[in-house]
Amino acid sequence: MKNELSSAVAGAGSAAVLKAPHARSSGGQRTPAPGSAPVRALQRQLVDLASARYRDKGRFAYHFSRGKLGGDPMFIELLRLGAFTGQRGRGARFLDLGCGQAVFASWLVAARTLAEQGRWPSDWPEPPRIESVRALELMPADVARGQAGFADEPRVHVEQGDICEADFGNVDVITILDVIHYLPLAAQDDVLCRIRAALRPGGVLVMRVGDAAGGWPYRLSRWADQAITLGRGHGWAYLHCRPLATWTASLHALGFQVHAVPTPGGLPFANVLLIAHVPAEGAA
Ligand SMILES: C[S@@+](CC[C@H](N)C(=O)[O-])C[C@H]1O[C@@H](n2cnc3c(N)ncnc32)[C@H](O)[C@@H]1O
Repeated sequence: MKNELSSAVAGAGSAAVLKAPHARSSGGQRTPAPGSAPVRALQRQLVDLASARYRDKGRFAYHFSRGKLGGDPMFIELLRLGAFTGQRGRGARFLDLGCGQAVFASWLVAARTLAEQGRWPSDWPEPPRIESVRALELMPADVARGQAGFADEPRVHVEQGDICEADFGNVDVITILDVIHYLPLAAQDDVLCRIRAALRPGGVLVMRVGDAAGGWPYRLSRWADQAITLGRGHGWAYLHCRPLATWTASLHALGFQVHAVPTPGGLPFANVLLIAHVPAEGAA
């Protein structure tokens, strides 16, 4: 279950931001290039499967899930890179902070379903086994759509809660995708500390953040976030972004080893995916 991402992390010091290495399958094969025909084919299969759980939960829930999972290359890239590879063989405990209607959980479950049906391509890293996914969201309407979508899936729990207050428990993987910049800076620091405390040795944090040093693409992504939040009836969002170097310095200070991953083929936004590992027990 080792791919290049995990081996590079194991051997790396904690002072640098590591470039994501070439992705490889569990058998050592190089995965198809981002945006290539095989990647798009698997993405289409996953979008169909993941969105199916929202089909009879209202037009918005269904079409939103298709638009988000099909339009944002981050989701397929996380699987292509094997970002969660190496987590507990019997199944990882996921915590998704600010989950919206929990489309990321539906993506994980869809990928695992394909693997268990023998339909997962052999030149990709194996998708993670799932013990549980706890998905936390502030907005009751999103929580209701998420809960409706997962009513028949005992591994996934969608809860209403404020990540500034909720107990994060003890988990293997935490995702916080396009969320942390909604919090004031002091609250961001507190959330990052509690994330670190909640992760077991060898665990991983995957976060996508806006890079405040990203020039006009950064301003574009901030306007887009604000327009979407306003359009969804959540009012005007005050966003608190930091330069990428500051995000990664905060993660290093907490003892994470950090990879910065570009998400290829997306809109020209200055959002950066950070894959941050807690060193395994006994690692230098
Ligand atoms: C841009 S959306 C991203 C949703 C989801 N992570 C995804 O990738 O589809 C940001 C989400 O963070 C949620 N959020 C913002 N502040 C929060 C808080 N303090 N506690 C929980 N959720 C929060 C918002 O309600 C919104 O659903």
